[in-house]
Amino acid sequence: MLKKPDHTTSSLSPFLTAVFLLTTAGVAGAQDAPSEETIEFFRRNCVSCHTIGGGALTGPDLKGVAERADEAWLVDFILDPKGVIDSGDPYAAELLRKARGLYMTQVPGMDRTKAEKLVDLIVSESAKERSLFAGLQISDRPLTEIDIERGRGLFMGTVPYENGAPACISCHTASGIGGLGGGRLGPDLTDAYARLEGRKALSAWLGSPPSLVMQPVFKNHALDGEEILAIVAYLKSVSESEGAAEPASVLQFVLLGFGGSALLLLLFDFLWRGRYRATRRPLIRDSKHARIGASS
Ligand code: HEC
Ligand code: HEC
Repeated sequence: MLKKPDHTTSSLSPFLTAVFLLTTAGVAGAQDAPSEETIEFFRRNCVSCHTIGGGALTGPDLKGVAERADEAWLVDFILDPKGVIDSGDPYAAELLRKARGLYMTQVPGMDRTKAEKLVDLIVSESAKERSLFAGLQISDRPLTEIDIERGRGLFMGTVPYENGAPACISCHTASGIGGLGGGRLGPDLTDAYARLEGRKALSAWLGSPPSLVMQPVFKNHALDGEEILAIVAYLKSVSESEGAAEPASVLQFVLLGFGGSALLLLLFDFLWRGRYRATRRPLIRDSKHARIGASS
């Protein structure tokens, strides 16, 4: 009679041991596991220029960085990259040279605690076989004419985005887009492909734009992998075609200016017709009342 429960326990025990081991491993790991907040911060602010184990982008691959430089140095560097480089630090000078003179930007909202947590995150991600930040998985397939066309459509806003991102043309211009060109809030993207050093770096940049202006706009409207490829294909084709963005001709401006003001005048005339009467009527009425009031 006593055999039965015994038997059950013994067949269960390897399972229980495994569960126990997994749980304790989980707990032990959780003590120094980076918080979601730090992961999200890295994703938002660093992956546009760095991978961990996915190769260099604009900045170096951060895998194993704590073996190249000590952690206190890394914290200081993340806090104030330009300051450290300009202080004449030889290791930083070498980094700058390898990055072809491009300075790492000072990340907004950075403080010492955040920087320390980021270094811990980089260390723990470096130890993984495959880091969360091994890089955007963007296909290596050859870019086609179809990509270029789609990219142009996305840029111009004639092809809608999967996640409702705004068209690039609202803030950017590029060579060959014709008309008055695009918005002026962002830079001309004609040579962005070259400036951001090609397909991989530009893709990473677009996957998570570090721009203060673009970041909030794209945060909840991320571009998907195929959209990024199409835009990269388009910007590549633009950078390879000759010439910078041709400024809209003066005549175009003048004509559009006249046309525009004529339209505006008509529009306001129309809109204010009602308003004018609506203001005048009570005035007349009031003045009548006033007169009546005065005579009585
Ligand atoms: C705009 C691109 C850019 C962004 C964004 C960026 N970095 Fe960098 N980072 C660089 C470049 C470029 C270097 C190489 C040094 C230099 O030229 O300034 C660098 C160097 C580093 C280094 C030293 C690397 C080494 O090999 O010793 C660390 C660590 C680092 N970055 C961490 C971060 C972290 C963490 C973030 C996010 C909070 C971040 N970076 C955001 C471009 C960037
Ligand atoms: C709300 C305005 C806005 C929209 C929309 C926008 N951008 Fe930007 N973008 C900017 C600004 C502003 C900058 C300059 C960096 C900064 O000041 O933040 C920039 C910078 C860039 C850069 C870096 C250029 C360089 O040479 O450093 C690239 C590439 C870029 N944008 C691509 C795009 C693409 C592709 C789209 C469409 C999917 C897009 N942007 C949509 C405002 C915008």
